[in-house]
Amino acid sequence: MERGLKKWGEVGVREKPRIVVITGMGGSGCVGDYVYALARMKDNSVPVIVSKDYKLPGFVSEKDLVFVISYSGNTLETISAYKQALARNTNIVIITSDGYLAKEAESRGIPLVKVIEGIAPRTALPEMLYGVLGVIDASGISIVSKEEAANALEFIKENMKYAMEEAYRIAVEINEKKKDLVIATHTPFEVLAIRGKNEFNENAKIPVKTDVSPEWAHNDIVGWEEPYRRDWFALLVVDPEDKAGMKLIEFMKIIYSEAGIETYTVELKGRTLLEKLLYGSLLLGLASVKLARLRGLDPLETRNIKRYKSIVKEIIGS
Ligand code: PA5
Repeated sequence: MERGLKKWGEVGVREKPRIVVITGMGGSGCVGDYVYALARMKDNSVPVIVSKDYKLPGFVSEKDLVFVISYSGNTLETISAYKQALARNTNIVIITSDGYLAKEAESRGIPLVKVIEGIAPRTALPEMLYGVLGVIDASGISIVSKEEAANALEFIKENMKYAMEEAYRIAVEINEKKKDLVIATHTPFEVLAIRGKNEFNENAKIPVKTDVSPEWAHNDIVGWEEPYRRDWFALLVVDPEDKAGMKLIEFMKIIYSEAGIETYTVELKGRTLLEKLLYGSLLLGLASVKLARLRGLDPLETRNIKRYKSIVKEIIGS
């Protein structure tokens, strides 16, 4: 977050875009979910579309701003989407640490936000997120102001100790239960369910289901009537300031308990949506790393992603 703040607004685009498209995969693609979550709750914000695919949506045109995000700069799906953005003459901003995309930005003079090199892509989320929000702010379509971003950094620093303790409690609970994990939440925090799932997948090497209300109450809720297995453990992520959210989670808790599922409730902290999202991400991310350590696993190693990346060219073409 600190590094992102230092570079805040150094890059911007002149023309107000029709829509903002954010394309990327995995830890880089998740940045788009955060920007969407923040933009959605703001009046008169620019429409934000998230695309985690090798094909750009057909409606993306030269009127739009496309953020191409790949921490490594070498993810094939993202490079493919980038080439389509280039061919359609869209405004492009590249967010990367290195690789093919960094070279493209430099050789073609494409606006670039370069993030720190040599860390796991998913751990660069705060810097990449602040990179995108800073560019948007400097382009006259602000979703988050620099002041709000700076306050969020202070807030996270103040709450770091508590987050580490709470993350440890969460990891111990999950490890003692040894059950499959559900991350359940309510809108507008669906991104925390997605990010939490990704973190527990990649760091702790476990599968995770996400349940997000109120949509959950229109399908998943029925699935919990007759599951084959009842050995799930649900982490409930709730915003204590959101009355409807609290009631939704209370109702979810009843349904889980009827299905024989134990729950652990995590309360979000923060004065703004940005702070709540960052706090929730920190908590779930730390818990996933602690769980990996408790299981004797290396949180940084993602063997099967490497396997996929070695054959992706054969799957989607070069
Ligand atoms: O966190 C990870 O390691 C992955 O989810 C990567 O982000 C994903 O494989 C895409 O790679 P990159 O972020 O380098 O484009």
